[in-house]
Amino acid sequence: MKNIILFGGAFDPVHNGHLNMAEVAANFLDAEVVFIPARISVWKTESVSAIDKINMLEIAIKNHPNFSISRIEIDSNQDINYSIDTIKNFKDSHTDDNLFLLIGTDQVNSFDKWKCPDEIAEIVQIVYFDRPGLELNRSNIERFKMKNIPGEMREVSSSDIRECKCLDIPLGVLDYIIEHNLYFINKIKRYLKPARFVHSVSVAKLAYEIAVENGVVHQDKYLIAGLLHDVGKYLSKEDTLKIMNEHFAEYLYLEPMIYHQFTGKYIVETVFGINDKDILDAIEFHTTGNGNMSDLSKVLYCSDKIEPTRGFDSTKLINNMKVNINSGMRSVLISNIQYYEKHKVNYLNPLTKACIKAYLD
Ligand SMILES: [Fe+2]
Ligand SMILES: [Fe+2]
Repeated sequence: MKNIILFGGAFDPVHNGHLNMAEVAANFLDAEVVFIPARISVWKTESVSAIDKINMLEIAIKNHPNFSISRIEIDSNQDINYSIDTIKNFKDSHTDDNLFLLIGTDQVNSFDKWKCPDEIAEIVQIVYFDRPGLELNRSNIERFKMKNIPGEMREVSSSDIRECKCLDIPLGVLDYIIEHNLYFINKIKRYLKPARFVHSVSVAKLAYEIAVENGVVHQDKYLIAGLLHDVGKYLSKEDTLKIMNEHFAEYLYLEPMIYHQFTGKYIVETVFGINDKDILDAIEFHTTGNGNMSDLSKVLYCSDKIEPTRGFDSTKLINNMKVNINSGMRSVLISNIQYYEKHKVNYLNPLTKACIKAYLD
């Protein structure tokens, strides 16, 4: 006799919040978890195909031997898949096993509106997590004998991932999204030439690796900043000057090739709807640096200059950044200065001067 947790959802796409819930529930109940992606979400429009959702789930669970995926709803020919039908089907093929149904906190409150809720509660043990700030419908919890799983849910939303506002997903899932142009990828590509897109992905991955090796918080922000940092690069001269005049007039004195860090920040904020100050600041000064940089700013600044597709051997600089962001940045600054002086590039604008003074002198 096994314990089996049924975990249904849109998984559009699967994210680390789902995986975290499944891991905690599996440990608490000593159970296997079966992910059941929905074929049609009755509450929203699908944005990717069922095949893509399944493929991303497969990538996400590949290192979890006690997780599996059921295609029962995806392969169904019903107009709408009701949970009661899915659950009865499972019970028929698992007569000796204990079935649990893991539901989201907001589903606790609406469970009495589901089809045949009492019958579901008789076949499976319903389990849920608390979510801070959400008041639970106590009468549903009692009526359907729902059990709480201790632990806090990780706050991740699939809709934020679809818009590139959060990338708290397994790296393999991000690779899949990039490779198949899902969700926000085409929007990014509208702003970048193909080689610049490749560079941006490379910056994102390197920044993320450096963040992981240094054990910093909010590691997904490094991916977002990397993917988006150059979106201002190919605006027309007119659009660039309009944005600079209206929003960044104090920086008009800089070399025009630097303007894209400001227009990029503007696009990320206004077109992508990202308002995370850390990400915006990092993009705003990714070319010049400045005298007051967060870890994210430092890592984006350096990753942009040393990512592996840049065409020189940056292995040592990359390794230095992975050991320590601050000492790594010193070595990147030294190498940059040597390069600029050798090629007679004037790099001494006030922002870069302040950066060198703060992080090298
Ligand atoms: Fe750039
Ligand atoms: Fe760049």
